Amino acid sequence: MSESTERVAVVTGGSLGIGEAISTLLLHLGWRVHVLARRASSCAHAAHDGCIVHDVDIRDIDAIKESADTVASSSGHVDALVLCAGVGYPTPLVSVSRAQYDELCDTNVAGAVFSTQAFAPLLRDGEAVITFVSSIAGRRGFADWSLYCASKHALEGFAASIREEFRARRIRVTCIQPGSVDTPSYDHLPPEEKKEFMDARSIAELTVAAIRLPRQACVETLFINNAAGDL
Ligand SMILES: NC(=O)c1ccc[n+]([C@@H]2O[C@H](COP(=O)([O-])OP(=O)(O)OC[C@H]3O[C@@H](n4cnc5c(N)ncnc54)[C@H](OP(=O)(O)O)[C@@H]3O)[C@@H](O)[C@H]2O)c1
Repeated sequence: MSESTERVAVVTGGSLGIGEAISTLLLHLGWRVHVLARRASSCAHAAHDGCIVHDVDIRDIDAIKESADTVASSSGHVDALVLCAGVGYPTPLVSVSRAQYDELCDTNVAGAVFSTQAFAPLLRDGEAVITFVSSIAGRRGFADWSLYCASKHALEGFAASIREEFRARRIRVTCIQPGSVDTPSYDHLPPEEKKEFMDARSIAELTVAAIRLPRQACVETLFINNAAGDL
């Protein structure tokens, strides 16, 4: 099979940051890439040959199902499902609100759960890889980041279970756990506070390398920490 003509990826949150870097790398490798985000149409690579944009809110289950139907009719199958859409910000316990809880859990957990469910029938048995973009916050806790850490720990638990559920189909499940990465989600920080952050391209290269491994090999967890440690 020629990788340049037949490989299909779906990348949620593929319009910016880590998801944009993963989408762009796959497009350059000749994959057809379906990008799902609220403002997918305005992403930098929307006009790239092979890029198909879906303007959807990952929290809207019906909208995700509609996107899956569109992918089914236009591409027929999926080789890589990358669940990258996410939000993160500090929430000191004293000021945690129900609205913050809903935003973080609906996006980071429910969005990934129902996207996986919607696209599962399209995943190619024996070939496909599901990649969850988790975080170092899915491995341990950080003061003032309790809601974000809770959402990423929940995502890790979901991924660990889905990995076993999909093993019979030989569909591989990977969790990517980056430390701090310089993306638009940190645009509010001054450059000096981000000088030790990783770039999104580094995360994308390792993610795509894991996706492209031979079908017998599965990177189950990929922890990519900052060389400087906690930032
Ligand atoms: N940056 C880091 O240091 C870091 C470290 C570890 C893990 N991560 C994880 O990596 C992932 C990407 O983070 P990032 O830093 O690249 O963030 P980013 O630059 O803010 O990009 C977030 C992406 O998710 C999409 N998105 C957010 N909410 C959405 C929603 N409700 N529906 C559909 N799409 C939505 C955004 O597009 P729209 O706004 O157009 O919807 C965008 O494409 C997240 O899961 C994050 O938790 C980030």
